[in-house]
Amino acid sequence: MENKAKPNGSATLTFNGKSLELPVLSGKIGPDVIDIRKLYAETGLFTYDPGFTSTASCESQITYIDGDEGTLLYRGYPIDQLAEQSNFMEVCYLLLHGELPSADAFETFDWTIRRHSMLHDQFDQFFRGFRRDAHPMAIMVGTVGALSAFYHDSTDINDPEARTIASHRMIAKMPTIAARAYKYAIGQPFITPRNEMDYAANFLRQCFAVPAEDYKGSDVLAKAMDKIFILHADHEQNASTSTVRLAGSSGANPFACIASGIASLWGPAHGGANEAALNMLNEIGTVDQIPEYIRKAKDKNDPFRLMGFGHRVYKNYDPRAKVMRDTCHQVLDELGVRNDPTLQVAMELERIALEDEYFVEKKLYPNIDFYSGITLKAMGFPTEMFTVLFALARTVGWIAQWSEMIEDPTQKIGRPRQIFTGATPRDYVGIAER
Ligand code: SDX
Repeated sequence: MENKAKPNGSATLTFNGKSLELPVLSGKIGPDVIDIRKLYAETGLFTYDPGFTSTASCESQITYIDGDEGTLLYRGYPIDQLAEQSNFMEVCYLLLHGELPSADAFETFDWTIRRHSMLHDQFDQFFRGFRRDAHPMAIMVGTVGALSAFYHDSTDINDPEARTIASHRMIAKMPTIAARAYKYAIGQPFITPRNEMDYAANFLRQCFAVPAEDYKGSDVLAKAMDKIFILHADHEQNASTSTVRLAGSSGANPFACIASGIASLWGPAHGGANEAALNMLNEIGTVDQIPEYIRKAKDKNDPFRLMGFGHRVYKNYDPRAKVMRDTCHQVLDELGVRNDPTLQVAMELERIALEDEYFVEKKLYPNIDFYSGITLKAMGFPTEMFTVLFALARTVGWIAQWSEMIEDPTQKIGRPRQIFTGATPRDYVGIAER
């Protein structure tokens, strides 16, 4: 990637009677940055920003978010336009290559991904080592990392060809692994992917077909699945993407880096929120219980938070949540479960929260995880599979961000420092003297 940030004046830091001019850089859109790369060498000072609320970790050209406006762009294209007019395979090409594909380029890319969907026959032994009640995210973390044991020919990160093949393998095999994690949990035989099917329909068939009868899929559900994958594909430098970048900065192979992203995504504050949000809606149970849970969410002494609400960046409605909510209604209509009590609770909870001054003042809006759980549950997925689907979709984003990092000429191993407040030097004391 060619760095494109442009110098835009400087910021003066004055400390201990000394002044330091720090360059300010401008991107295409979004906040300017203060380039502090020389700060420690010239002042002996670190910056301090736990949680990275004011830190740009990299230059990127993939995804842009404006949290105040509620804007999300993949390579400049608004997420709502892509969700309505594109498809997940085309979005994968866009995220990886930076431009929408021509018809020929799309056909080649789509066919390549379809032909990498199978797993090495011996790979299936991994699943049998897990308890049947293992959380599918535990299976994903374990098996995805193990892919590097099978695909040595695509682990040389300095070989662009190997990086391309590894990227295609990751995108193509995640649905097969995710479906196997689900089938293993319910004790059903694994279903082999079919090359003539498109990505989302192929995945749904691997999850819900059984050998004992012909499988009839739903075009509406396949379209909804495809749209859900688009919404989850990438999201700037979130926790799991930053994890993938940091793991990759040491030269670790792409499969291991993606496994580290899956581990980070699992947390309930991040990708695990869709599972947590549905569990919360089920715990609330009925509309009349909502006020009590709103009170708990506002109580500083109560660790309870409204799962599926709030976001580090969005201080406006998450643009993905709007599309997710519409998709939720479409899926429930298709399945004839429009009066799902969980949806009733979710819609009333959203209405109340958006009027409550605590949530308004803290700019807490529903995020993508608020409606995804209801949708996925209606489609037949158990709650534990929700974050697996998030990881499946986000794999292309992780891969695109990892590739961009590898190709960045200024890239170096990520190695943050700290402010130390622990014990100062002291001599060892033998156990008899303690
Ligand atoms: C994802 O980063 C990404 O891009 C992530 C993601 C992606 O696509 O990769 O968008 C996917 O992870 C979406 C977020 C899913 N998580 C949840 O829905 C879990 C519930 N949300 C919160 O845990 C929280 O909102 C976070 C973690 C999402 C954001 O936390 P921040 O930015 O660290 O904000 P904060 O915790 O400092 O909260 C600010 C204030 C606090 O009150 P004060 O201490 O200032 O008085 O808002 C309050 C918080 O207590 N608050 C909430 C709340 N979220 C924040 N209060 C009640 N319910 C909530 N959900």
